[in-house]
Amino acid sequence: MNMANQTDRVIVALDVSGEAEARALVSRLGESVSFYKVGKELFTACGPELVRELVRGGKKVFLDLKFHDIPNTVAGAVRSASSLGVSLLTVHASGGSNMLMAAAEAAAQSEARPTVLAVTVLTSMAQPDLAEIGVEAPVAQQVERLAGVALRAGCGGLVASAQEAAGLRAKFGANFILVTPGIRPQGAAVGDQARVVTPAEAIRSGASYLVVGRPITAAADPRAAADAIQAEIAGI
Ligand code: C5P
Repeated sequence: MNMANQTDRVIVALDVSGEAEARALVSRLGESVSFYKVGKELFTACGPELVRELVRGGKKVFLDLKFHDIPNTVAGAVRSASSLGVSLLTVHASGGSNMLMAAAEAAAQSEARPTVLAVTVLTSMAQPDLAEIGVEAPVAQQVERLAGVALRAGCGGLVASAQEAAGLRAKFGANFILVTPGIRPQGAAVGDQARVVTPAEAIRSGASYLVVGRPITAAADPRAAADAIQAEIAGI
């Protein structure tokens, strides 16, 4: 793996509410970070222009809008995201096979050909929350079930906690992209994340990319924090 690809494995979550803040962070991180996650908060505030700006600046973008709608609408959303030049985007696996196939097809037919990642069970949901919406299966079983539906429908990968990574690799093999949030370098504040793993552990468990937010964005020296994570996973 060359250095450019190596740097790509850390995706910094731009969990800020405005473009000035986002620009300041990207400029501060400089060459240390080449991949950014734009989620609902920032996208809803700033719109697609910020995504275009990142792509024009040579950065890769993971557009985390978790599409979940009828197949025709999701296909249209995926085409729009693709036209922005994003590299990764998310859909909810619970939208079902037809929706997932429509998303994968729309991405494959676009020029940018982003990878469609499926989100399985939100990590904010525990057993009682699943039971409430009529899902009696244990969380882990439901994660596996939805992962299987998504991969069979042609999605290129999954978003999953690093603790689920090894199990998903064991069950579904090496041939899909696995993006894992909930990363905390040794000694970092855990914040509201209940289950966390270190960057090196996540990569060893089979993660293709790590999503890292506050351990970098809230650090006193974000660039040093990013460099430390890049160094920790270099060569794994
Ligand atoms: O600041 P922190 O490193 O916890 O940020 C993690 C990022 O990953 C946030 O943008 C969060 O919304 C996202 N995420 C997560 N857990 C998931 C899916 C996404 O923490 N299961």
